[in-house]
Amino acid sequence: MSELKNDRFLRALMKQPVDVTPVWMMRQAGRYLPEYKATRAHAGDFLSLCKNAELACEVTLQPLERFELDAAILFSDILTIPDAMGLGLYFEEGEGPRFRKTIRSEQDVEQLTVPDASNELGYVMNAVRTIRSALSGRVPLIGFSGSPWTLATYMVEGGSSKDFRTIKRMMYSQPDVLHALLAKLADSVIDYLNQQILAGAQAVQIFDTWGGVLSSQHYQAFSLRYMKKIVDGLLKEHDGRAVPSILFTKNGGQWIEAIADTGCAAAGLDWTVELGDIRQRVGDKIALQGNMDPSVLYASPDSIRKEVARILESFGSGEGHVFNLGHGIALDADPDHAKVFVDAVHELSAQYHR
Ligand code: CP3
Repeated sequence: MSELKNDRFLRALMKQPVDVTPVWMMRQAGRYLPEYKATRAHAGDFLSLCKNAELACEVTLQPLERFELDAAILFSDILTIPDAMGLGLYFEEGEGPRFRKTIRSEQDVEQLTVPDASNELGYVMNAVRTIRSALSGRVPLIGFSGSPWTLATYMVEGGSSKDFRTIKRMMYSQPDVLHALLAKLADSVIDYLNQQILAGAQAVQIFDTWGGVLSSQHYQAFSLRYMKKIVDGLLKEHDGRAVPSILFTKNGGQWIEAIADTGCAAAGLDWTVELGDIRQRVGDKIALQGNMDPSVLYASPDSIRKEVARILESFGSGEGHVFNLGHGIALDADPDHAKVFVDAVHELSAQYHR
């Protein structure tokens, strides 16, 4: 494996000194880029794109050609695990993800088997290996998975949901059934992420997109507890380097102390919290990733730079900040504005790292 030419992202996750604050964007490969749409049209549907290592590699690298990003993220989806469990994932144009089979009963959960990631999800590992080789040490590669709770919402509801009524009914009336499902998902995620690490992922992020719809008590019991189990089960090192983990619970800033207690290297934060306040609450226990509102990219270049400056000042001097958006970049974001954002982070952050 070739030496890393830019290791700012990994250094910041481990709270080591950097020259400027590293930056990447959640959903940095995707439909806001015309070149993504061209490759996707060539591949056919989205899942075929994920399953073709060469094309998945091509779209992973597209944002790096446009922007000075400090990390690449594997092009795939969080729903590959339930798909490998036999639920039959498909995408309805404009409707989001759907499953042919849903999980509603104790029997449904009992019948689920933990997939062997090196086999049933081997196409993901092929993509990781292909991307690592194409990057040839330019920047680190991030692997990822959904959190057990977030995956369970899709499996129980059968797709996206606004109110999560079916899974919440299960949580309140049959908590043991939900716990059995979450335990199987946690085991699946541990194997899946460890296989990604062995294939070449240099950091991993867990997307807990829907943990923030739970009460504090239920967040701890049904989401965070299983993410902690995953953190405990992850390979801590590979190829002589630490492999840091990032937990991103959207709307989870309120629980930052509990998140920091899991042993993760970093927490991802959305824009509803003030980075400086969160830093005070966790001290230097973990690194922080975030947290600009993706909607800022709709504003003028001048406003984007001001917002970047404000967030850098909120974090303040010292180490342990990875700049990112507080959630995925919007479908209709202007790529030129994304470039203003990325450049502003590098240009305006040098003064905080002397
Ligand atoms: O960040 C990246 O660039 C890596 C790729 C990535 C995708 N999905 C690609 C994708 C990542 C990290 C995800 C994660 C994901 N997938 C989440 C967590 C997101 C978060 O930010 O919290 C969720 C909830 C999913 C499930 C999912 N997959 C949804 C809701 C959708 C959108 C459906 C739609 O039609 O809008 C997808 C599809 C998807 N995943 C696309 C991409 C680029 C769009 C596919 C296309 O039509 O080309």
